[in-house]
Amino acid sequence: ALINTFAPKLIAWHGISGRSGLPWQGNRDPYAVWVSEIMLQQTQVATVLERYPRFMKRFPTVKKLAAADIDEVLAEWAGLGYYSRARNLHSCAKQVMTEFSGKFPSDPVLLEQLKGIGRSTAGAVAAFAFHERAPILDANVKRILARLFAIEGSIQDKAVNDQLWNLATDLLPKKSVDMPVYTQALMDFGATWCTSRKPVCLGSERKCPFAKDCQANLSDQVLLLPQKTKK
Ligand code: ADE
Repeated sequence: ALINTFAPKLIAWHGISGRSGLPWQGNRDPYAVWVSEIMLQQTQVATVLERYPRFMKRFPTVKKLAAADIDEVLAEWAGLGYYSRARNLHSCAKQVMTEFSGKFPSDPVLLEQLKGIGRSTAGAVAAFAFHERAPILDANVKRILARLFAIEGSIQDKAVNDQLWNLATDLLPKKSVDMPVYTQALMDFGATWCTSRKPVCLGSERKCPFAKDCQANLSDQVLLLPQKTKK
């Protein structure tokens, strides 16, 4: 049952409790979506809110970014950390110009071939910019799915990771028009409700819409999942 109800319930949750008004939301320009996803990978939303508009003003198109000197890109990235992201951003922009005539492909398999774009970011760009029925599986989504289905075993294991990708694919909304809101809802739900240390289901106030669907909640294992390989 959850397979059919998850997406509509999550979208309904997002309408009430999701984050809205973020400057990259509602923007279907693949370039703008891609820049925001790369920035958001290892930088907090509050910092991205300060720096994203500036970056987009400095490099408004993939063509302008590709034509820029790497030193200009690195200078604009100053303070955001993980500078390999800025180098990859510049390489990727040049790749889009030369291999894709300046247009981002919509197919996540092609997006994944671009410098700095992993499988989950490829899914996010395909979903946000092109309404593709492509799954995402970032750390937040792994946590949500490992809990909902009480997936044991380390999420670093290939078999577990494959199982999570299969679930992420099975849970996609039926209609591709819902993909941007669904994808944002997943990210927001993991970041704000199904959090690692203080999930809403264990608090007294707000009720998780999936409390009765969630195998981890039903068996009191929420804080034990997902499991990671001990180092
Ligand atoms: N982290 C990665 N992508 C994000 C997005 N689109 N919104 C908020 N946080 C994110």
